[in-house]
Amino acid sequence: MFILGGTASNGIDIHIARSLGADLGKVETTKFPDGEIKVRVPEINDNRIAIVQSTYYPQEKNLFELLLAAYALKEKNAQVTAVIPYLAYARQNRSFYPGEATSVNLVLDMLRCAGVSSLVTVNPHRSGPLMYFGGKIGITNAEITLAGWVKEHLSSPLVLAPDKGSLDMAKGASSVMKCDYTYIEKHRDTYGTVSIEKAHGGDFRGKDVVIFDDIISTGSTIEQATRYAYSEGAATVSAAGIHLVMAGGAVEKLKNAGVQRIFGTNTIPCEKAEIVDVSEDIAESIRKLSREIGS
Ligand code: R5P
Repeated sequence: MFILGGTASNGIDIHIARSLGADLGKVETTKFPDGEIKVRVPEINDNRIAIVQSTYYPQEKNLFELLLAAYALKEKNAQVTAVIPYLAYARQNRSFYPGEATSVNLVLDMLRCAGVSSLVTVNPHRSGPLMYFGGKIGITNAEITLAGWVKEHLSSPLVLAPDKGSLDMAKGASSVMKCDYTYIEKHRDTYGTVSIEKAHGGDFRGKDVVIFDDIISTGSTIEQATRYAYSEGAATVSAAGIHLVMAGGAVEKLKNAGVQRIFGTNTIPCEKAEIVDVSEDIAESIRKLSREIGS
């Protein structure tokens, strides 16, 4: 297999190529005078190619670069795997309000149309909707690696899931960290305001609470969970997010709420957090997927 790194691979392409013992090349991206991007792939003497491109901000540019690279390879009849550490547009997996487009389906359709036959991604917001893709999918669950690393930094941890959707992740993290977990249920209104709807117990007193979530975007979810944890007697509160989107003033919001440390992974670059490399987890997913495909 040949590894082709896009401009938004955040170094993960290099680690994966090393881990798989594969050759590495780079997508060359330039711009036309009008701002449209132009993509060129190198000559590759391998029919199986994995393009590594995360789709963090600017999402449309990074996504389109990936699509163009895949399409260039499709024209060469290559078997293309898209390795997308952070998959943008995955949270809109249905019409929450009438008239809204299900963006994840469009992204998956576009990938197929561009010639992508298999997909590897890290902690998608929900894995069920990805089945719409129709091809083989490898999902990396990075919370185990993240939790193993967070564990080294907290002395009396308690894992908190800030909503029901993060409960499995919290369970997995707590088993690695050998500590208890609990969760709260949140409500987000039409304006995006987050509030705590229901708590499910747990002894927070004197604990180093660490809130595990798949995505930290505006920071509102972690902010409310942090305030709740302190109100229950937590000694410290930290945040652990797989994908640190950190939109707008999210870092300041977290700090103002009393979040002491922000842990995350390298699916998205973030200078304001303590980052653990999950490239090896992704490489393992690619190996597994290759075995399933039989290539
Ligand atoms: C939602 O269900 C996700 O798991 C995250 O909790 C959410 O995306 C975080 O968004 P924000 O940081 O804007 O509250």
